[in-house]
Amino acid sequence: MTESSSITALSQYGNDFPAANVSGKRILITGGASGIGAASAKVLANRGARVIIADLASEAGQAIAKEASEHQKDMVFHKVDVADKDSVNALFAFAMQQFGGLDVVINNAGIDHKPKPMHELSDDDFDRNIAVNLKGVWHCMRAALACMLKEGVAGKPGHVINVASVAGLRSSPMISAYSAAKHGVMGLTKSAAIEYAKANIRFNAVCPSFIDTPMVQNTLSQLDERGQKAIVKASPLRRLGKVEEISGAVAWLCSDESSFMNGHALTLDGGMLA
Ligand code: NAI
Repeated sequence: MTESSSITALSQYGNDFPAANVSGKRILITGGASGIGAASAKVLANRGARVIIADLASEAGQAIAKEASEHQKDMVFHKVDVADKDSVNALFAFAMQQFGGLDVVINNAGIDHKPKPMHELSDDDFDRNIAVNLKGVWHCMRAALACMLKEGVAGKPGHVINVASVAGLRSSPMISAYSAAKHGVMGLTKSAAIEYAKANIRFNAVCPSFIDTPMVQNTLSQLDERGQKAIVKASPLRRLGKVEEISGAVAWLCSDESSFMNGHALTLDGGMLA
């Protein structure tokens, strides 16, 4: 097809390419005060979703929600430590009070650990990674299910999106605890996808490679030039991903256009795992 005939063909349908529709959806996102979570919260609120951002970092989270409100977007902040079951349950109680239900929960809060070979990794590093990156996701999945099951059984769909990592599909050296936790997130995602499909609740994962966020900038600052280059060139596109390249996919997942996707790992890695 020549360029002009493709333009003609498109014009028969109108030149309208609407963004994935999330208008009115009630969405809770953890780790929404920074990086991928903040970018996703902003895209969702911009497209008309009602958003709760939850994070340990109160000041940053409150500032993002305040700025959104000043632009007439529907976003509130609530403090949470996802590693703490009671804190997570309090967050979901707040969400129910705020919205009366939840359409989408995005489990994005996460931490890394100092790159180290396994035999040098401390108990503290290992335990904290599992507590936040795996058990934190589990706390939120369980609390999300308690909220969504009532509506799901009544026919209203629910969707839980876990932000895992390419390290949850294949590991790299020096990140064993992180990788173990993210593989665990994939296991939880797939198990729940099968268990709760009959209740109309879907579970999917997003698996980014290195994305330019404060987490990755912190990692880069601990490496020499060779290590930094290795990270930047880990993707065949030979660059870090941008947060907008993840948040756009997250927004699509939150829309009804993803309705037949369940138990899937959406890899966003510039071809790293190809
Ligand atoms: P980030 O460090 O910019 O943001 C993470 C957010 O999680 C921060 O606001 C932090 O305060 C919050 N957080 C940390 N521990 C928490 C806790 N216990 N309770 C509540 N909130 C907590 O990191 P980034 O890069 O945006 O990461 C977001 C998610 O994406 C993480 O799960 C990370 O593992 C994952 N990911 C990131 C990649 C990257 O290259 N940036 C690649 C693959 C996955």
